[in-house]
Amino acid sequence: MKIADLKPLEFRALLDQTADIISRLYTDIDRRTVYHTNNSRDIRSLFNEDLPASPTPIDQLLDRFESDIAGNVAIHYSPHFYAWVTSNASQAALIGEFLATALNVNATTWLNAAAASEIEQRVIAWIGQFIEYHDSAAGVLLSGGSMANLSGLLLAITHHCPYDFAKYGIDRERPLRIYASEQSHFSIQRAVLALGLGTANLIKIKTLADFSIDGMALRQQIEADLDKNFHPICVFGNAGTVNTGAVDALDELGQICREYKLWLHVDAAYGGFAASTGLRSTLFKGLEMADSIAIDLHKWLFVPFECAALVVKERSQLKQAFRMIPEYQQFAEDDTRVDFSELSLQQSRRFRALKAWMTFKAYGTQHLRASILHSVNLMSWLADEIEKSTDFQLISRSQLSIVCFQYIGRNGPDSESILNELNQQLIQALEADGRVFIQPTILNGKRVLRACCTNFRREQKDVLFLLNVLRELGEAIEREIPDGRQR
Ligand SMILES: Cc1ncc(COP(=O)(O)O)c(C=O)c1O
Repeated sequence: MKIADLKPLEFRALLDQTADIISRLYTDIDRRTVYHTNNSRDIRSLFNEDLPASPTPIDQLLDRFESDIAGNVAIHYSPHFYAWVTSNASQAALIGEFLATALNVNATTWLNAAAASEIEQRVIAWIGQFIEYHDSAAGVLLSGGSMANLSGLLLAITHHCPYDFAKYGIDRERPLRIYASEQSHFSIQRAVLALGLGTANLIKIKTLADFSIDGMALRQQIEADLDKNFHPICVFGNAGTVNTGAVDALDELGQICREYKLWLHVDAAYGGFAASTGLRSTLFKGLEMADSIAIDLHKWLFVPFECAALVVKERSQLKQAFRMIPEYQQFAEDDTRVDFSELSLQQSRRFRALKAWMTFKAYGTQHLRASILHSVNLMSWLADEIEKSTDFQLISRSQLSIVCFQYIGRNGPDSESILNELNQQLIQALEADGRVFIQPTILNGKRVLRACCTNFRREQKDVLFLLNVLRELGEAIEREIPDGRQR
């Protein structure tokens, strides 16, 4: 028997059951354990099943979802989730997500997805206005910042490669050079790798004390490369690094790129939406000079995974890089219709713009801006609490919403290696404990705890809870060491 649709009332009953599950997922979020630490063998055994030959009733699968799946992933939208830069998933956007799935439209050409195309154009223009980039910004929605960085690099090549890269690929006699700070995201290296430019041609520029790029060092490197007959084409600027939330001096980068005729791509995957606040005229000064911007809606615009934008000044710049029209997609010429299949590497595309549009419409820029500032203020408050404490030390605070710190415990400051070891043990204890989800990173050789907030659900009480859990586990580790710390 082939697949058949259910009767409308049966389908409706399953949707009701699904809605109940979703509403349970979003109830009492702060009281639920953010992470369960079943070992990998236990979790694998839940799914170690044969390829099913016969059907299972869908209501039983929904039960399985609740019993085996939902509890075995971390709750990324929980106020106790501090790792990476995560999606907080607003409820309006969630609803947009599942409506887009239900519509199952392929947002690839205007003809088959007219409203989707118009909404995507509108959302991109709103992003441009919200972060004060350009009122008429164009762009495309993609799966995430990694894809937006890759696409930005392809734009740089399209517009600045001195030879016909599209036709012949890389000319080994004339290597292209790409510049980014040492703190830039690893997706840039991946993009360089994927486009065959050679990772040796991605030059990592040292950073200043605040982890932003050293503009002087960048200039010297470009000059040195020009002397050696390399072809500098692109600078990646950071608008919020993943480690510390550092923002490069974008106006300085813009100036350098203008002088040397380079493409400026700003990786604003994490920090970009903070440019909608008063920080635009200070921290994000010069953002308008970017030729392209990667910005994640599934970070600080509270849209569920996956959703990012590649934003540029003119749509034609994207067309030049990506436009290919296969024989089965040749419609009557109509300049008023935007076909998104011409604007990125993707052909079939889900209707991502709906959840983004729902977000802007449901909350408005006022509530969005206030929610972004809430994260900034809360993490600034965490940094203050750490500075006031005797058992933690602050390693970095940013003007965005990442704080890096170490647990130093009852003995206070100690040698770097001892504190690294103590904090490493603390991370392992946190993983086993599961009440908060926080990740380490390494800064100037120090192993530090890194707390990030792009979460409108988190409050001061949650941040105090984090510190209390860290203290409790940290003290337990120290108690295990008989004579103070291992020396
Ligand atoms: C600064 C920065 N760039 C790029 C990325 C990659 O974005 P995505 O995970 O959406 O691909 C991230 C992810 O955290 C990031 O923080």
